Amino acid sequence: MRAGRGVMAVALLALAACGGEDDDDGGPVETCVVAPGDGPVAPTSGPMCQLLSSYRLFSDLPGQVPAAGVEPFDLNTPLFSDYTDKLRFVHVPDGAAMAWQDVDSLEMPVGTILAKTFVYPVDRRDPGQGRNLLETRILVRMTDGWKASAYTYGEDDGDAEIAIAGEFIDASWIHDDGSTRTNRYAVPNVNQCGNCHEEHDEVLGPLGPKAGHWNRVQPGGSENQLAKFVRTGWLNGAPPEAQWPRTAVWNDAGGATLDERARGWMEVNCAHCHNPRGAARTSGLDLTAAQIDPVQFGVCKPPVAAGGGSGGRQFGIVPGLPDESILVYRLESIEGDVKMPELGRNLVHAESVALIREWVTAMPGACATVQ
Ligand code: HEC
Ligand code: HEC
Repeated sequence: MRAGRGVMAVALLALAACGGEDDDDGGPVETCVVAPGDGPVAPTSGPMCQLLSSYRLFSDLPGQVPAAGVEPFDLNTPLFSDYTDKLRFVHVPDGAAMAWQDVDSLEMPVGTILAKTFVYPVDRRDPGQGRNLLETRILVRMTDGWKASAYTYGEDDGDAEIAIAGEFIDASWIHDDGSTRTNRYAVPNVNQCGNCHEEHDEVLGPLGPKAGHWNRVQPGGSENQLAKFVRTGWLNGAPPEAQWPRTAVWNDAGGATLDERARGWMEVNCAHCHNPRGAARTSGLDLTAAQIDPVQFGVCKPPVAAGGGSGGRQFGIVPGLPDESILVYRLESIEGDVKMPELGRNLVHAESVALIREWVTAMPGACATVQ
């Protein structure tokens, strides 16, 4: 399924190597430090590990079977990543616990590991045909904050190696409609992790582990994820279950209103940059689900910079008119300086475009200069 790979041409600063040999400049190489033993483990300071296996997250790494002390989790609504499927895992160290937050990511203790493996199923219509592992992304909570790295799989899936400069992987799969699709899948470089994961005030951190996103049944199980983590002592400070927030499932029309699903989808796919303390704050566009002022989330909002990115359209969202709305234009684009999100997507996500189009079409009202 992979025809070729290449290292991304990017300039990187201050690379911390973590192997055992000299780095390219002949300087000393730092090695990640983890406690010996069997269970899952992460360095609490210093560099990330060179090999994925060093974190001991899986009892069967190619099969992605989590080790004892590692729990799978899912989100009500995920980030779209070029039709990959994702397997997500969390490890909280023995005796430690996460702390409840109503809106922001749950607070996580030093030693927490979050992992996300990206795969292309061989055939999206038939999981039994297997899957191809692309990369596993790791976030580790160290004493001085979070650190991030991607690990890519070689020709055999036995282990994955750190990919600091990112990588391209030529991949193909059979799509829902039976057609063969291809993608030059991009593994982000280590600086790009921060472009999305610095949600607030340029501080790196997790994005998915929020009460609203986690309030659902655990993958492969029947118990609510938050309830399970409360029961097992992994999550402290949770209010009674009736008060837990819940992010809408973007593609479950029976479970939430059109507005809730559209706003929930943008919360996960856009709001880590588009919030008042995020990387896209200068655009003035706030796509958090909590924003109640329509102008702030784009309705009749003129762009900060006209030009290519606006496609000649006048407003972020023009009620009733998706083809006049800059937001829709940018979702439907694959051009580097137009597409949104600007990272992590080569392909158009037809299904979420359809959702956002439906939402804009149903929106009442009109903008002053476009009737
Ligand atoms: C395009 C934006 C984007 C980029 C670039 C990105 N991430 Fe993420 N990442 C997200 C979002 C949004 C989520 C939560 C939604 C989901 O998992 O579907 C997430 C989830 C994760 C998770 C699961 C835990 C969590 O925070 O939800 C890990 C681990 C992770 N990312 C690591 C990385 C690493 C390491 C890099 C860089 C190699 C990276 N990410 C680059 C947006 C991004
Ligand atoms: C990785 C960060 C990032 C993510 C994720 C992201 N954006 Fe953006 N967005 C930006 C930046 C930076 C700008 C300002 C520069 C520009 O217009 O290209 C911007 C600008 C925009 C604008 C123009 C805003 C204006 O009024 O000038 C729209 C519309 C937009 N984004 C929509 C989206 C949507 C919809 C999503 C989610 C599907 C999204 N963005 C996700 C970084 C991001």
